[in-house]
Amino acid sequence: MTENPNDPGLPEERVPRRVLGTPPPGNGSALGAPVADAEPIVHEGVQFPDPATARKGERAAALLFLVAFLAGVGFVAAYVIFQVGSIDKVATSNMALGGTLAVALLALAAGIVVWVRMMMPKYSLVQERHTMASPPAVREEIGATFLQGANESGFVKYKLLRRTLLLAAAPLGLLPLVLLKDLGPLPGTTLRHTVWKKGMRLIVEGTGEPIRAADFNSPGGILSIVPEGHEDDLNALAKATLILIKFRPEDIKPGTKLNWTHDSIVAYSKICTHVGCPAALYEQTTHHILCPCHQSTFDAADGAKVIFGPAARPLPQLPISVDSQGYLIAQSDFAVPVGPSFWERGDAEAEARARGQA
Ligand code: FES
Repeated sequence: MTENPNDPGLPEERVPRRVLGTPPPGNGSALGAPVADAEPIVHEGVQFPDPATARKGERAAALLFLVAFLAGVGFVAAYVIFQVGSIDKVATSNMALGGTLAVALLALAAGIVVWVRMMMPKYSLVQERHTMASPPAVREEIGATFLQGANESGFVKYKLLRRTLLLAAAPLGLLPLVLLKDLGPLPGTTLRHTVWKKGMRLIVEGTGEPIRAADFNSPGGILSIVPEGHEDDLNALAKATLILIKFRPEDIKPGTKLNWTHDSIVAYSKICTHVGCPAALYEQTTHHILCPCHQSTFDAADGAKVIFGPAARPLPQLPISVDSQGYLIAQSDFAVPVGPSFWERGDAEAEARARGQA
C-alpha cells in the first residue's frame, strides 16, 4: 500500500481529493471552522456558497448542460432527417434546425447562469474613479479670463454694436429652412403612376422593337419589356419595366386577371414589391418569378402572388391587348402602384382621401 506523503497515516487512495472551484478544504469548512450545511461561508468579504446550495446548483447546471447536449444532437439529426427541396420542406427543416439550436443555446446559457449564481463566490468590486473637473484654481482663472475678455470687447457698453451683431446672426439660423427648398417638389401622386397608357406598344428591351402576340408563341417564354418612347428614360423605366410571360392556357390560375391578358400572354411589373430590385429570374416549370435580392418568390401563373420571402403583395399586372396590326399594347396604366409597398402607401391613402372628398 502506498502512503500519503501529506498524511502518513492514510493510504494514498483514501485521501479526499480537492475538486476545482470548491472552497479550500479545512476543518469542515472553507475557513477551518465547522459550519452548518445551509449557511453561506463568509471570509474577508467573500461569500462562498453553502455546500447544499452548491450541490443543488451543480445538479441543475448539469441537467441544463445535458439538455443542451441533447438539443445539439437533435440539431444534427434534424439536418440529416429533414431534407429540403420544396417550400414546405424548407420551412419544416428551418423550424427543426432553429428550434433545436435555440434550445441548445438557451440551455447552455441557463446552465452557465446557474453555475455562476449558485456555485461561485460573491464579492463586491469597486473601481476607483477620479474627479474629472479641473482644480478650483484653474476654473477660477478661466472664469476671470472670460469676464476680462467680455469687458474688453465692450459687448455690454456698445449697444449699437451688440444689436447689429444679433441682427446679423438671426438669418443664419433660418438658412437651413431655406435650403430645404432644394430637396425638390413633393412627389404628390407621381409615385402612384407610370408612363404606361392606353395604346402604348410594348417594346422588347435590348432589341428596341415592338412585339406581335403571334411572334411570342412558345409557352414558358419570358421577355423584358419597356414602354414605347421611353426606352432610354431611366426615370420612367425605374417604374415601368415589365416582364412578359407566355403560358399554356390551362396553366393560368384564377389569381391572374384573364381580361388583362392576350392569348395567354401576361405582363407583370418587373419591380419587386419588397424594396424594388428587378424580379426577373423565372423558373419555367414551376412558373415562379424570383427576386434575387431577398428571395421573394411570386407565382406568375396565379396573379404573381407572393409564395415566399419578404415581399408583401403581388407584382402588379398590366392590362394588355393588341392593336390593329397585332402588336402588343397596354390597355391602360397599372391599376395599383408598382414597386416597394412602403413608398406608395401614404400616397395612395392621400389619393383615396382626395377621391372621397371629390
Ligand atoms: S427586393 Fe425583392 S425580395 Fe427584396
